[in-house]
Amino acid sequence: MQALVARGDGTPPELVERPRPEPAAGEALVRVLRVGIDGTDHEVVAGNHGSLPEGADAIVLGHEAVGVVEDPNGTDLREGQVVAPTVRRPPAGGTNEFFERGEPDMAPEGMYVERGIDGADGFMADYVTSPAEYLVPVPRHLAEWGLLVEPLSVSEKALEHAFASRSAFEWTPERTLVLGNGSLGLLTLAMLVGRDDVERAYCLGRRDRPDPTIDFIERLGATYVDSRTTPVPDIPDRYEPMDLVYEATGYARHAVETVSALAPGGVGALVGVPEPWTFEVDGGQFHRDLVLGNRALVGTVNSGRGHFETAVETLQGLPEWVPEAVLTDVVAPEEAGGAFADGDERTIKTAVEFSTI
Ligand code: NAP
Ligand code: BGC
Ligand code: ZN
Repeated sequence: MQALVARGDGTPPELVERPRPEPAAGEALVRVLRVGIDGTDHEVVAGNHGSLPEGADAIVLGHEAVGVVEDPNGTDLREGQVVAPTVRRPPAGGTNEFFERGEPDMAPEGMYVERGIDGADGFMADYVTSPAEYLVPVPRHLAEWGLLVEPLSVSEKALEHAFASRSAFEWTPERTLVLGNGSLGLLTLAMLVGRDDVERAYCLGRRDRPDPTIDFIERLGATYVDSRTTPVPDIPDRYEPMDLVYEATGYARHAVETVSALAPGGVGALVGVPEPWTFEVDGGQFHRDLVLGNRALVGTVNSGRGHFETAVETLQGLPEWVPEAVLTDVVAPEEAGGAFADGDERTIKTAVEFSTI
């Protein structure tokens, strides 16, 4: 079978032949339909994030997948069932308390591997195997959009944790701001706009019009904020202070600046993964704003099975045009190298299609 691999040294991904995997006891065999590409995949290719599987010279890419169960292999899954796999698995040597509790997303480094990212092969292949417990059913009519379940699940978790941090008092996220107009930022904006308690939503980018992400933001009824003319600390004066900020640029300064955009009692959910970077901040003001304004920052990574299940419901509830507008490109595996090479601003998300339903 074919698989798209990266060496994690900045060289372009390559399509290679790999043996078709055999499901072990408790595992199902899945025929892969589509796998999405996000900012993390670019970081894996560049060698800035993740690691190769132990002893391997390359990693099979891909962690945003949807496929069809080809062989349930005695598990509770059905042949033909559409599924989205979760990303984390226990490291070699066996399971641990985080996986046993169903909270792999809360495991510290060293207590997990991530398929397609960190120490384990991913889903950009004709077939993959997985323990059935990590395969989340997706309604058949959503098969073509099922690769969006993983990124949506990341935001389900982020919002769950942000809301939990505000649960001790009366709080609603009426004014919300997403930093970043990549695919994760835009999907999260759509999730937020769909909530009854959100009254106004803003999304920050650094693009000139005409631009498909600005069109997307405005079609949702949200306001586009250009970071080049309105830096994050100016947002409260120019627009309004925010109850909730979701950071998805991976630009480290934004993590700190998030506090300056928050209303008292507000919360910032930090999801972007930055490079190490030293820069100057007014630490006193940052500390003061957090304490005297009862503000909170929550860092969050990955997602568990429950977040995937909620993400399936969220995907069903999104306006039909949203997944279509996010998934701008669907390419064959032979063309996937190009999808990693170009920085085409017309592209929001590319999916690599290995087979069709
Ligand atoms: P992406 O496609 O790289 O999107 C990042 C977006 O932020 C881009 O559209 C970029 O704009 C914009 N941006 C960067 N710096 C900016 C600035 N200074 N001002 C305004 N806009 C700026 O990545 P993604 O897939 O959407 O993911 C977003 C981030 O979340 C990445 O850092 C990724 O690694 C991380 N992530 C984390 C998790 C988690 O579990 N914590 C899960 C998924 C992704 P341009 O395109 O115009 O450059
Ligand atoms: C993935 C998460 C993963 C994170 C850190 C993200 O792109 O969607 O599942 O935990 O990267 O590696
Ligand atoms: Zn991702």
